[in-house]
Amino acid sequence: MFITPKPLETELLTGQFVLDENCTVFCTDNLLKSVEFFVDCIRKNTGITLNFVDKLDDAVIYFTAPGTDDMAEDEYIIACADGKLGVTVATEAGCFYAVQSLISMFDINNYEGGVPTCRHCFIKDRPKYGYRALHLDIARHFFGTETIKQIIDLMASFKLNVLHLHLSDDQGFRVQIDRYPLINSISSYRNGTELRDGTIHTDSERYGGYLTKAEVAELVNYAGERHIDIVPELDLPGHIVALLAAYPQYSCVGEGIEVRKKWGISKDLLCAGNDDVYPFICNILDELTEMFPSAYFHLGGDETPKDRWCNCKKCRAKLNELHLDSFAELQTYMFNYFAEYLRGKGKTVLGWNDGFTANTHPDTVCHYWMQKTERQTIKAINNGRKAVMSPFFRMYFDYPYAMTPLKKTYGYKPDKGVKKHAEGNILGVEGTVWTEHIKNTDKLFFNLLPRLAALSECAWGTNRHYGDFKNRVKSLEKVWDGQSLNYNARATANQSVFRRLKTVSLFFKKDADVELKNN
Ligand code: ACM
Ligand code: ZN
Repeated sequence: MFITPKPLETELLTGQFVLDENCTVFCTDNLLKSVEFFVDCIRKNTGITLNFVDKLDDAVIYFTAPGTDDMAEDEYIIACADGKLGVTVATEAGCFYAVQSLISMFDINNYEGGVPTCRHCFIKDRPKYGYRALHLDIARHFFGTETIKQIIDLMASFKLNVLHLHLSDDQGFRVQIDRYPLINSISSYRNGTELRDGTIHTDSERYGGYLTKAEVAELVNYAGERHIDIVPELDLPGHIVALLAAYPQYSCVGEGIEVRKKWGISKDLLCAGNDDVYPFICNILDELTEMFPSAYFHLGGDETPKDRWCNCKKCRAKLNELHLDSFAELQTYMFNYFAEYLRGKGKTVLGWNDGFTANTHPDTVCHYWMQKTERQTIKAINNGRKAVMSPFFRMYFDYPYAMTPLKKTYGYKPDKGVKKHAEGNILGVEGTVWTEHIKNTDKLFFNLLPRLAALSECAWGTNRHYGDFKNRVKSLEKVWDGQSLNYNARATANQSVFRRLKTVSLFFKKDADVELKNN
């Protein structure tokens, strides 16, 4: 019985349950959506129709939500014995997770005819972390609704519940904003893209696109039906060249900025000393928060060289006016300003950890990624800072498996070094997919699968055993074959250090697709 993430407790019993058209279904009204999801999935994959009945006593399969105090929030219990299958949950999300487990138990996604069966069993399961996330950069390369929905489906199957969309960066702005139309006519397109073919140059092809408001609404709804929250990110004050190309008056230099073709870090930032910048960004935040109802909002804050601010009269004047002693503190001032604006709308704000200083508002969630600051981050967590964990050498899925092996992702223990009293400050774990070198879905799914499965076990808090996990990956590969999704078929194989170093070297110097080509 292959369920990923592996449940907390599984007891196999004698006998088996047969899933056929005699299996009548009962559920309490509040669970109907998830149970319909289950019934639809069975019908689509196997042709078997399960009929609903009005009374629990008449049902073979039943879902109830007594909401007892002794169940954790998203816990579920599956008791399958004597020809009956009962599911008990406290919340609708718990019911959705039970349904995902049932789909795996009956191996519905690998259906090859006949009657699906599963072993009689007792399963008790719940997530350790409430924030089980995947990040997707749609700025460097744009992925539209069809691909994002495929990702949402995969996330749902692994009981992940947050999709963090990196909507804007130096190379593109990927969502419709009505108040500032130049954002979509200028910021959403670039006139060339850096290539890595041994010489590193840019082509001159116009590239871009953006999600319309109708598409965002469709995605938010699709994700919501699968108990996934879409968290938007507007990265600032750096990684914002695309926006400044359309509205250069909000930069320190005022003119001559184009949507960036190259990767790396730009020196151009929002001007912190220009008072007009603040309402401009707030107006954009208004539209973004209207589109994305999530309780969370990500404000970026990473990788901001202060060269432009140092050379800008307005920024220097702002520093003096506020009596700040560094440009890092000026960044904190700006970040806190927008975070406060968002908190006024009921949002919990996240920021990348390298943008944090001692004065970053205590309610801001630290999104830890930069591994050299690990000790500092753990200390902050122990002192009360809430955090989401994406350590670079484990959770950055844009890098080759030769550099970031599956086993390393799988083995991540988010609370290592965190004191018992502070463990609750870790909200969860997030895998990131930056897309400078991911141009198409073949590479996207190759880099993501099977890492997404490993991420799900770190975030769900499974008692991990790599050998056992590897077996489950082999069964998942059959599912992905059936769905025509690319994956790294060698991710679980051992590779010599020599071979890995060679691949990493080729990746950085010559061919970002080296591993994909060798699959
Ligand atoms: C980041 O990788 N720049 C957050
Ligand atoms: Zn400035």
